[in-house]
Amino acid sequence: MPDTDIILSTFERAADACADPAPLIYDRLFARRPDFRPLFDMDTDGGVRGSMVQTCLEALLGVAEGAGSQRVIISAARFSHGGYGVEEGEFDLMFASIRDVFRDLLGSGWSAREEEAWANLLNRIAAIP
Ligand code: HEM
Repeated sequence: MPDTDIILSTFERAADACADPAPLIYDRLFARRPDFRPLFDMDTDGGVRGSMVQTCLEALLGVAEGAGSQRVIISAARFSHGGYGVEEGEFDLMFASIRDVFRDLLGSGWSAREEEAWANLLNRIAAIP
């Protein structure tokens, strides 16, 4: 099965397992990097975090499907996040946190092939300047 189909399948099964993974994703990100939590202090209603996660999910799906527009969005966000104090490699921790949450949600259903397809996808995104 091609990587694209594998990634899509993990998205569908994660959505079945959890309608709103955003809180889990931020818990995961802040567990890795507690220093990122205060960056969102101004986001009192969670609106920025919600919209950021949505953008990330669309970006992951878009790159998996070969959508050039999502590569441009990632590139622009990579640049703008420098202004929020998020450095080069740190930006990609958000995508890694999403992968980790999906892996947890799928539990024993998560296969070695799915691990590989996600590693490929995250590597492709990390290579977007
Ligand atoms: C560890 C990684 C990241 C951190 C710590 C982070 C942090 C932030 C912060 C603090 C803001 C609010 C900025 C402000 O309004 O002053 C923000 C906004 C945003 N981030 Fe991230 N970000 C990360 C990764 C990403 C990634 C990978 C994407 C996806 C391309 C992304 C997309 C966005 C978008 C679209 C917004 C604007 C949301 C809105 O206001 O509607 N971020 N981010």
